[in-house]
Amino acid sequence: MTTSSDLRASFIDYFAQQGHQPVASSPLIPANDATLLFTNAGMVQFKDAFLGRERRPYTRAVTSQRCVRAGGKHNDLENVGYTARHHTFFEMLGNFSFGDYFKREAIHYAWDYLTRVLRLPPERLWFTVYTEDDEAAAIWLDEIKVDPQRFSRCGAADNFWSMGDTGPCGPCSEIFYDHGPAIAGGPPGSPDADGDRYVEIWNLVFMQFNRAADGTLTPLPRPSVDTGMGLERLAAVMQGVHSNYDIDLFVKLIAAAAAITGCANPADQSLRVIADHIRSTAFLITDGVTPGNEGRGYVLRRIMRRAIRHGYRLGCTAPFFYRLVAPLVAEMGDAYPELRTAQAQVERLVRLEEERFAETLANGMGILETAIAGLADGRIPGETVFKLYDTYGFPTDLTADIARERGLTLDMEGFERAMDAQKDRARAASQFGAGQDVAIDIQGQTEFCGYDYLHETATVVALYRDGQSCDALDESQDGLVILDLTPFYGESGGQVGDRGWLTGESGRFEVADTQKK
Ligand code: SER
Repeated sequence: MTTSSDLRASFIDYFAQQGHQPVASSPLIPANDATLLFTNAGMVQFKDAFLGRERRPYTRAVTSQRCVRAGGKHNDLENVGYTARHHTFFEMLGNFSFGDYFKREAIHYAWDYLTRVLRLPPERLWFTVYTEDDEAAAIWLDEIKVDPQRFSRCGAADNFWSMGDTGPCGPCSEIFYDHGPAIAGGPPGSPDADGDRYVEIWNLVFMQFNRAADGTLTPLPRPSVDTGMGLERLAAVMQGVHSNYDIDLFVKLIAAAAAITGCANPADQSLRVIADHIRSTAFLITDGVTPGNEGRGYVLRRIMRRAIRHGYRLGCTAPFFYRLVAPLVAEMGDAYPELRTAQAQVERLVRLEEERFAETLANGMGILETAIAGLADGRIPGETVFKLYDTYGFPTDLTADIARERGLTLDMEGFERAMDAQKDRARAASQFGAGQDVAIDIQGQTEFCGYDYLHETATVVALYRDGQSCDALDESQDGLVILDLTPFYGESGGQVGDRGWLTGESGRFEVADTQKK
């Protein structure tokens, strides 16, 4: 059997032999693109090279890139566990040309790698090009001589790839694997193309134009190539299985999850969710994301809590998820040494999140079960969804996941109404009255450490009383304190600010509210 690790190495080796520089996977937090939540394709780390803003010491590169598609534009979170091929975390194999080779070489390399190196039978492959791309069509049909019966032209929705509203873009050519007539689905471009029979394995993008803000396309001076092939899908093909969850890497992770949760059925959907989610969780933490209530941190928290709830479904009431980090490191630590380096930190943060959520998970589940038992219309009321979110820390997609298991839906409009009402109440109740509404003129930021610690030693950066800067607050005076570091969560995203105490040598200060400015 060709293992996932063998395939990763074989791809890199093949393109290295063709003069490509092997480049390490970049982290999941894009360094050069604040608009992107997570690295979601191999080309992300090369964006500036395609745009000509950055010169690299090579014009050909090959990578195995770790990617997350959860949250933001590409969000596969809700489908994980329900389909054979959706993941929050996956690896994208890619070869890139920065103004070096173009369509001809890209297509020949792909054909050579799939049919000669991997020995995939041509009659199981299917090829598409963009409707207007006669050049790519001629390469496939006249040079490679693929069977015209296994070739189609598709429109822009499928075969014209753009990085965004502006920037480099171009037609693409996709290669599909035909899993055979036993599986429902038609070839690409046909009405039933959405079926599972023909699975896209490789996308070759011919970066050919620059799209301006008004939509006009101008040819790039140095046409380039960006390709992406899902390692898990390729492994499924090479290992003769239909579901990605049946490839070697997942079989081992699922076996570890089964042993840890005590679940006897390896096909249980919860084991798939747990095996998928430990990968995104561990790599996101490795790359510096910590579970939190906003942005990337909240996406991570949603992934983790969804996995923890699936463990609960299997009967785990004690922390279990962190125990999957070691089996994951055993599987992927050689390819991604940073994962091995971060193992202890990942385990610690996962366990902390499990302990945090354990306090409310069982109670929240009790409330949900009671609400479900009383349902007349199959729709969980927005008030309940909000209460679970606000008081019990259930992200809405976690509640939606439970609803989906039971064939129920959520009243999301009611949820939004309850959320708005809560925001109004929080604003009205804020302790930051007019007297404390001061113009703060301080450089720097308060560092937030509340995801790791509930107590911390900090320094007072500034004090305000009645809207004015001051040096001290006396007993029973109200005031505003700015710290350099804080475990207090500031009001945001519908969450009220934390309350607590500041204790120092000269006294104790009661924190009635925390705000971010
Ligand atoms: N960037 C293209 C994609 O994401 C090819 O890698 O499909």
